[in-house]
Amino acid sequence: MKNIKIAIDGHSSCGKSTLAKQIAKHFGFTYIDTGAMYRTIALFAMRNSMITPDGTPDENRLKEKIGDISVTFLKDGHAALNGEDVENEIRTLEVSNTVSKIAALKFVRQEMVTLQRKMAEDTSVIMDGRDIGTVVFPDAELKIFVTADDEVRAQRRFNELTSKGEQVTFDEVLKNVRERDLLDTTREESPLRKADDAILLDNSFMTREEQFEVAKNFVDRTMQE
Ligand code: DC
Repeated sequence: MKNIKIAIDGHSSCGKSTLAKQIAKHFGFTYIDTGAMYRTIALFAMRNSMITPDGTPDENRLKEKIGDISVTFLKDGHAALNGEDVENEIRTLEVSNTVSKIAALKFVRQEMVTLQRKMAEDTSVIMDGRDIGTVVFPDAELKIFVTADDEVRAQRRFNELTSKGEQVTFDEVLKNVRERDLLDTTREESPLRKADDAILLDNSFMTREEQFEVAKNFVDRTMQE
Protein backbone atom coordinates (compact mmCIF):
# COMPACT_ATOMS: atom_id res chain seq x y z
CA MET A 1 0.00 0.00 0.00
CA LYS A 2 1.31 3.45 -0.82
CA ASN A 3 1.93 5.92 1.99
CA ILE A 4 -0.80 8.49 2.39
CA LYS A 5 -0.99 11.89 4.03
CA ILE A 6 -4.05 13.10 5.89
CA ALA A 7 -4.39 16.76 6.84
CA ILE A 8 -6.65 17.74 9.72
CA ASP A 9 -7.02 21.50 10.10
CA GLY A 10 -9.46 23.65 11.99
CA HIS A 11 -10.13 26.00 14.88
CA SER A 12 -8.64 25.76 18.38
CA SER A 13 -10.10 23.24 20.81
CA CYS A 14 -12.43 21.55 18.35
CA GLY A 15 -11.18 18.02 18.97
CA LYS A 16 -8.82 17.76 16.00
CA SER A 17 -6.14 15.95 17.95
CA THR A 18 -8.59 13.52 19.54
CA LEU A 19 -9.87 12.63 16.09
CA ALA A 20 -6.40 12.41 14.57
CA LYS A 21 -5.21 10.10 17.36
CA GLN A 22 -8.23 7.81 16.93
CA ILE A 23 -7.62 7.56 13.18
CA ALA A 24 -3.88 7.01 13.65
CA LYS A 25 -4.51 4.19 16.10
CA HIS A 26 -7.18 2.53 13.98
CA PHE A 27 -5.21 2.60 10.71
CA GLY A 28 -1.69 2.36 12.15
CA PHE A 29 -0.62 5.78 10.84
CA THR A 30 1.93 8.10 12.43
CA TYR A 31 0.25 10.97 14.25
CA ILE A 32 1.88 14.40 14.38
CA ASP A 33 0.43 17.17 16.53
CA THR A 34 1.85 20.33 14.96
CA GLY A 35 0.19 22.60 17.55
CA ALA A 36 2.37 20.88 20.17
CA MET A 37 5.42 21.92 18.14
CA TYR A 38 4.46 25.62 18.19
CA ARG A 39 3.57 25.29 21.88
CA THR A 40 7.04 23.87 22.58
CA ILE A 41 8.69 26.85 20.90
CA ALA A 42 6.42 29.17 22.91
CA LEU A 43 7.47 27.43 26.12
CA PHE A 44 11.14 27.82 25.18
CA ALA A 45 10.59 31.55 24.59
CA MET A 46 8.75 31.92 27.92
CA ARG A 47 11.41 30.07 29.87
CA ASN A 48 14.14 32.22 28.36
CA SER A 49 12.42 35.55 29.05
CA MET A 50 11.77 36.22 25.39
CA ILE A 51 8.18 37.37 25.98
CA THR A 52 7.51 40.93 27.18
CA PRO A 53 4.86 41.48 29.91
CA ASP A 54 2.34 42.49 27.22
CA GLY A 55 2.88 39.13 25.49
CA THR A 56 5.04 40.24 22.56
CA PRO A 57 7.85 37.86 21.58
CA ASP A 58 11.42 39.15 21.29
CA GLU A 59 11.81 38.13 17.66
CA ASN A 60 15.51 38.83 17.31
CA ARG A 61 16.55 36.77 20.32
CA LEU A 62 14.28 33.89 19.34
CA LYS A 63 15.58 33.97 15.76
CA GLU A 64 19.15 33.69 17.06
CA LYS A 65 18.28 30.66 19.18
CA ILE A 66 15.80 28.80 17.00
CA GLY A 67 18.48 26.65 15.38
CA ASP A 68 19.44 25.31 18.81
CA ILE A 69 15.93 24.23 19.78
CA SER A 70 15.09 20.60 19.23
CA VAL A 71 11.39 19.76 19.00
CA THR A 72 10.69 16.04 18.94
CA PHE A 73 8.07 13.52 19.97
CA LEU A 74 8.91 10.81 22.50
CA LYS A 75 7.79 7.20 22.05
CA ASP A 76 4.59 7.83 24.03
CA GLY A 77 3.76 10.79 21.74
CA HIS A 78 4.67 13.43 24.30
CA ALA A 79 6.30 16.60 22.97
CA ALA A 80 9.91 17.14 23.99
CA LEU A 81 11.99 20.31 24.18
CA ASN A 82 15.68 19.48 23.79
CA GLY A 83 14.84 15.95 24.95
CA GLU A 84 12.81 16.98 28.02
CA ASP A 85 9.18 15.81 28.21
CA VAL A 86 7.15 19.04 28.26
CA GLU A 87 3.72 17.60 27.39
CA ASN A 88 1.98 18.89 30.53
CA GLU A 89 3.62 22.30 30.55
CA ILE A 90 2.69 23.13 26.95
CA ARG A 91 -1.02 22.57 27.65
CA THR A 92 -1.39 25.31 30.32
CA LEU A 93 -3.49 28.41 29.66
CA GLU A 94 -0.33 30.50 30.00
CA VAL A 95 1.22 28.78 26.99
CA SER A 96 -2.12 28.92 25.13
CA ASN A 97 -2.16 32.69 25.64
CA THR A 98 1.33 33.10 24.15
CA VAL A 99 1.48 30.54 21.38
CA SER A 100 -0.54 32.33 18.68
CA LYS A 101 1.99 35.17 18.61
CA ILE A 102 4.84 32.69 18.27
CA ALA A 103 3.01 30.77 15.53
CA ALA A 104 2.55 34.02 13.60
CA LEU A 105 6.33 34.48 13.13
CA LYS A 106 7.52 33.61 9.63
CA PHE A 107 10.90 32.15 10.64
CA VAL A 108 9.24 29.93 13.28
CA ARG A 109 6.76 28.61 10.69
CA GLN A 110 9.51 27.95 8.16
CA GLU A 111 11.46 25.86 10.69
CA MET A 112 8.38 23.92 11.78
CA VAL A 113 7.09 23.22 8.24
CA THR A 114 10.50 21.86 7.21
CA LEU A 115 10.53 19.64 10.28
CA GLN A 116 6.95 18.47 9.69
CA ARG A 117 7.69 17.44 6.10
CA LYS A 118 10.76 15.53 7.31
CA MET A 119 8.74 13.74 9.99
CA ALA A 120 6.33 12.54 7.30
CA GLU A 121 8.94 10.99 5.00
CA ASP A 122 8.48 7.27 4.28
CA THR A 123 5.39 6.76 6.40
CA SER A 124 1.63 7.26 6.30
CA VAL A 125 0.81 10.25 8.48
CA ILE A 126 -2.11 12.07 9.92
CA MET A 127 -1.11 15.58 10.92
CA ASP A 128 -3.27 18.13 12.67
CA GLY A 129 -2.84 21.90 12.72
CA ARG A 130 -3.92 25.03 10.90
CA ASP A 131 -1.97 25.01 7.63
CA ILE A 132 -1.50 21.33 6.88
CA GLY A 133 -3.87 21.14 3.91
CA THR A 134 -2.96 24.59 2.59
CA VAL A 135 0.83 24.80 3.12
CA VAL A 136 2.52 21.72 4.60
CA PHE A 137 0.85 19.11 2.36
CA PRO A 138 -1.22 20.81 -0.32
CA ASP A 139 -1.19 17.44 -2.12
CA ALA A 140 -2.50 15.42 0.87
CA GLU A 141 -4.72 12.52 -0.19
CA LEU A 142 -7.37 13.55 2.34
CA LYS A 143 -8.05 16.91 3.98
CA ILE A 144 -10.58 17.44 6.74
CA PHE A 145 -11.41 20.87 8.15
CA VAL A 146 -12.87 20.50 11.64
CA THR A 147 -14.87 23.15 13.42
CA ALA A 148 -17.48 23.66 16.15
CA ASP A 149 -19.35 26.54 17.76
CA ASP A 150 -16.95 28.65 19.88
CA GLU A 151 -18.96 28.27 23.13
CA VAL A 152 -19.05 24.50 22.67
CA ARG A 153 -15.27 24.51 22.16
CA ALA A 154 -14.70 26.71 25.23
CA GLN A 155 -16.84 24.41 27.38
CA ARG A 156 -14.86 21.35 26.28
CA ARG A 157 -11.55 23.11 26.95
CA PHE A 158 -12.78 24.41 30.32
CA ASN A 159 -13.75 20.87 31.36
CA GLU A 160 -10.35 19.57 30.29
CA LEU A 161 -8.36 22.26 32.14
CA THR A 162 -10.39 22.12 35.36
CA SER A 163 -10.21 18.32 35.40
CA LYS A 164 -6.42 18.75 35.49
CA GLY A 165 -6.77 21.13 38.43
CA GLU A 166 -6.16 24.43 36.58
CA GLN A 167 -7.89 27.40 38.22
CA VAL A 168 -9.67 29.04 35.29
CA THR A 169 -13.11 30.48 34.62
CA PHE A 170 -15.29 29.64 31.63
CA ASP A 171 -15.15 33.28 30.50
CA GLU A 172 -11.35 33.29 30.50
CA VAL A 173 -11.30 30.16 28.38
CA LEU A 174 -13.93 31.52 25.96
CA LYS A 175 -11.91 34.74 25.63
CA ASN A 176 -8.78 32.71 24.85
CA VAL A 177 -10.61 30.59 22.24
CA ARG A 178 -11.98 33.72 20.52
CA GLU A 179 -8.64 35.53 20.61
CA ARG A 180 -6.86 32.54 19.12
CA ASP A 181 -9.49 32.23 16.37
CA LEU A 182 -8.96 35.87 15.51
CA LEU A 183 -5.15 35.67 15.55
CA ASP A 184 -5.06 32.36 13.65
CA THR A 185 -7.41 33.51 10.89
CA THR A 186 -6.12 37.05 10.41
CA ARG A 187 -2.33 36.60 10.64
CA GLU A 188 -0.25 37.32 7.57
CA GLU A 189 1.71 34.05 7.55
CA SER A 190 -0.32 30.96 6.60
CA PRO A 191 -3.61 32.07 8.15
CA LEU A 192 -6.08 29.38 9.12
CA ARG A 193 -8.42 28.71 6.22
CA LYS A 194 -10.18 25.73 4.77
CA ALA A 195 -8.40 24.37 1.70
CA ASP A 196 -10.77 24.34 -1.29
CA ASP A 197 -10.57 20.55 -1.48
CA ALA A 198 -11.01 19.92 2.28
CA ILE A 199 -14.14 18.28 3.66
CA LEU A 200 -15.88 20.42 6.31
CA LEU A 201 -16.69 18.58 9.55
CA ASP A 202 -18.70 20.56 12.13
CA ASN A 203 -18.79 18.48 15.32
CA SER A 204 -20.76 20.89 17.55
CA PHE A 205 -23.48 18.29 18.00
CA MET A 206 -21.46 15.10 17.56
CA THR A 207 -19.95 12.78 20.13
CA ARG A 208 -16.32 11.73 19.71
CA GLU A 209 -17.51 8.32 18.55
CA GLU A 210 -19.87 9.78 15.93
CA GLN A 211 -17.13 12.06 14.65
CA PHE A 212 -14.72 9.14 14.45
CA GLU A 213 -17.21 7.06 12.44
CA VAL A 214 -17.71 9.87 9.92
CA ALA A 215 -13.97 10.47 9.51
CA LYS A 216 -13.18 6.74 9.35
CA ASN A 217 -15.48 6.47 6.34
CA PHE A 218 -13.59 9.29 4.63
CA VAL A 219 -10.30 7.50 5.24
CA ASP A 220 -11.66 4.13 4.04
CA ARG A 221 -12.88 5.78 0.86
CA THR A 222 -9.53 7.53 0.32
CA MET A 223 -7.64 4.27 0.71
CA GLN A 224 -9.81 2.57 -1.89
CA GLU A 225 -9.18 5.30 -4.47
O1 DC B 1 -3.74 23.15 17.99
P1 DC B 1 -3.18 23.95 19.16
O2 DC B 1 -4.23 24.72 19.91
O3 DC B 1 -2.34 23.13 20.07
O4 DC B 1 -2.23 25.04 18.46
C1 DC B 1 -1.51 25.95 19.22
C2 DC B 1 -1.31 27.24 18.43
O5 DC B 1 -0.44 27.03 17.33
C3 DC B 1 -2.56 27.90 17.88
O6 DC B 1 -2.56 29.27 18.22
C4 DC B 1 -2.45 27.76 16.39
C5 DC B 1 -1.00 27.51 16.13
N1 DC B 1 -0.78 26.52 15.08
C6 DC B 1 -0.46 26.98 13.83
O7 DC B 1 -0.40 28.18 13.61
N2 DC B 1 -0.18 26.09 12.84
C7 DC B 1 -0.26 24.78 13.05
N3 DC B 1 0.01 23.95 12.06
C8 DC B 1 -0.62 24.30 14.32
C9 DC B 1 -0.90 25.20 15.32
